[in-house]
Amino acid sequence: MTEQRHWVNEAWQQIVQKIDRTSKRIGANFPHASENGEYVLAEPHWWTAAFWPGLLWLLYRDTQDDGLKQLAEKCEEKLDAVQNDYYRLDHDMGFMWILTSVAQYNLLGSEDSKRRALIAANLLMGRFNVNGNFIRAWNPWNEGEDNSGIAIIDCLLNLPLLYWASEETGDPRFKGVSKKHADTVLEHFIRSDGSVHHIVRFNPESGEMLEAMGGQGYGPDSAWSRGTAWAIYGLTLSYHYTGDTNYLETAKRVAHFFVSHLPEDFVPDWDFRLPANVDTPKDSSAGAIAACGLLLLAEKVTAAESPIYQRAGEKILESLYRNYGDWEGSEEGLILHGTSHFPQGKYTNNPLIYGDYYFVEGLARLKGYKELFW
Ligand code: GLY
Repeated sequence: MTEQRHWVNEAWQQIVQKIDRTSKRIGANFPHASENGEYVLAEPHWWTAAFWPGLLWLLYRDTQDDGLKQLAEKCEEKLDAVQNDYYRLDHDMGFMWILTSVAQYNLLGSEDSKRRALIAANLLMGRFNVNGNFIRAWNPWNEGEDNSGIAIIDCLLNLPLLYWASEETGDPRFKGVSKKHADTVLEHFIRSDGSVHHIVRFNPESGEMLEAMGGQGYGPDSAWSRGTAWAIYGLTLSYHYTGDTNYLETAKRVAHFFVSHLPEDFVPDWDFRLPANVDTPKDSSAGAIAACGLLLLAEKVTAAESPIYQRAGEKILESLYRNYGDWEGSEEGLILHGTSHFPQGKYTNNPLIYGDYYFVEGLARLKGYKELFW
């Protein structure tokens, strides 16, 4: 490790110590966002369920701490009830079973974990709409609502479950579906300046694109920073699994938009394109996700291009550690100032479990752990 990266080991030690402490209270549960210093525990059905066990696996890989492994495995077992609750399963099965079952299987080889991940992959593939070539995002949130034509940018991070399933089974269907969805993202979600739409609605019968929607961003034409981060990482992962350079080139375009809009401290506001009268809380989770994408992108581009992405990823992570980390106090979250859903006023200045997860994943990569969980 080079001289200037000593901070990485220092940060890692802080994380290991803190998780040793917080894991005793949080246990095999599903923290979502931290309020008044303590993580609120969510239902296992929520899309964020696997970030805590995923974080425990990231640490276990380094420390071999059996207690962390046991907690992660217990969380995975608790998700069995979710897998059997068909009506509440949505496209976020990727997040949920990659960071639990696929992580367990890749690290320790449990056949039960492999089976769970394959069931999830089949259910996820079943949400594919062949008319519009997209994976349907959600089920109706309210009685009578029709969400059958909705797809969202975040789903790019669910696709690795399908890539994994094709590699594991030798059946190309999963990868085929994944590629078709990623191609739809290129066509309908990514704008020419590298910013992205959060939500796109299609006609579920004809497949025609109907409208772009603001979703968790300020509006249909704004630039939600976490959505941009999902696109950087998700498209780079699709390139990783397919070798299709359209994904790589687009990931670079989105990365340039993201990095060129970062403020002085390298951690984005919740949306990059806001009217002057709208509040601009940070979203540290967007920074952490983008950093992971940038570090992977740095490994995929030419040697001449690589330092641009590598340096940007490192700068974001170092700023998160130095300026956003909570290492001394009693706060349970690792990094402060995340924004979950500004338009709905949900958690607009809080530690978020996915911010913590990607922060730790990025640091693990800087420490030399190159094997992907995704
Ligand atoms: N996947 C939902 C979000 O990024 O908040």
